[in-house]
Amino acid sequence: MLKIDTLKLSSNLILSPMAGITDLPFRTLNHTFGCELAFVEMINARSLGHKSKKTQHMLSTNLKDKPLGLQLLGCEPKFIQRAMDILQEYEFDVLDFNAACPAKKVTRRGEGASLLKEPKKLNQLLKLIIKNSKVPVTAKIRAGWDKDSLNAKEAALYAQDAGIKALFIHGRSKTQGYSGSVDYKIIKSVKDALTIPVIASGDILSAQLAKRMFDETGCDGIAVARGALGNPWIFREIQEFIKNGKIIPRPSPQEIMRTMLKHLDLCIDFYGEKVGVVIFRKFIAWYTKGFRKIRPLREKASRVKTKEEILTLSEEFLSVNTREKEN
Ligand SMILES: Cc1cc2nc3c(=O)[nH]c(=O)nc-3n(C[C@H](O)[C@H](O)[C@H](O)COP(=O)(O)O)c2cc1C
Repeated sequence: MLKIDTLKLSSNLILSPMAGITDLPFRTLNHTFGCELAFVEMINARSLGHKSKKTQHMLSTNLKDKPLGLQLLGCEPKFIQRAMDILQEYEFDVLDFNAACPAKKVTRRGEGASLLKEPKKLNQLLKLIIKNSKVPVTAKIRAGWDKDSLNAKEAALYAQDAGIKALFIHGRSKTQGYSGSVDYKIIKSVKDALTIPVIASGDILSAQLAKRMFDETGCDGIAVARGALGNPWIFREIQEFIKNGKIIPRPSPQEIMRTMLKHLDLCIDFYGEKVGVVIFRKFIAWYTKGFRKIRPLREKASRVKTKEEILTLSEEFLSVNTREKEN
């Protein structure tokens, strides 16, 4: 269904990398709902060299976490070369290079989206990565730096010329960050200009918006990001809508809570209860989006410390929402 060089994917639905979010528990859960390829949170080439316990933990994987993509961030050839040597020890199926991150601490070092301003440098760095990679290499870009320099097509052509096997594009400029609407036209212009697969990202928040992305851009695959927060069902919903035109009803509050607790268990297995519960707090707010009378319960959720407390909270969420439905 989607081929990234030697990597054959059975669908073109991808989980986009999200720093602080796409850890092993999140990826595993989304795979069970129809996500075909998932990415680890972005890794800085420089910090990879420190071989910290945190980075090694971040790179851990298992058989349920396949196929797996890594994403590298960097701009200095010596750190990238060292990162590529270190990455030889790890198991993954595709390596993406980030030329899209808009964070100030990233762009002021010349990394992430600031490489859009230097497409020739992007080309050189990609050549270095490709030369040292045993898996297919891809790149992720944005529409451009700002509305007056929307050079996605130029950057994409430089990246393709380096030998990447697919291109990811987030259809917003660097200055837009994550707000404003996604530019379908610029994604289409990139798709029309390239010969390699183009995977589109931006505002894929529902099955209908996923279809819109395919229809308006002709892209070969889509990468879901915020649409999957507290909502792994989005992959199943997209699949069904695109294949059969059917809208799957939203999961019941009970199913949402069941899945949330499954995700919690995965988090606790991976981080231990103390750290896992703290990391999980933000997910409670996402899973309960759209639930009624949740403000006081969400406040409690932001302070929970144990699995037991989350179990009690989930019962409270359900009792409020079931009662509301009956009234
Ligand atoms: C919290 C957060 C963290 C992100 N981290 C990364 C990242 O590490 N690497 C990356 O390429 N994109 C990252 N992104 C961008 C997403 O992968 C995606 O391209 C973007 O959010 C647009 O999709 P959306 O509008 O559907 O959310 C991040 C987005 C969010 C919201």
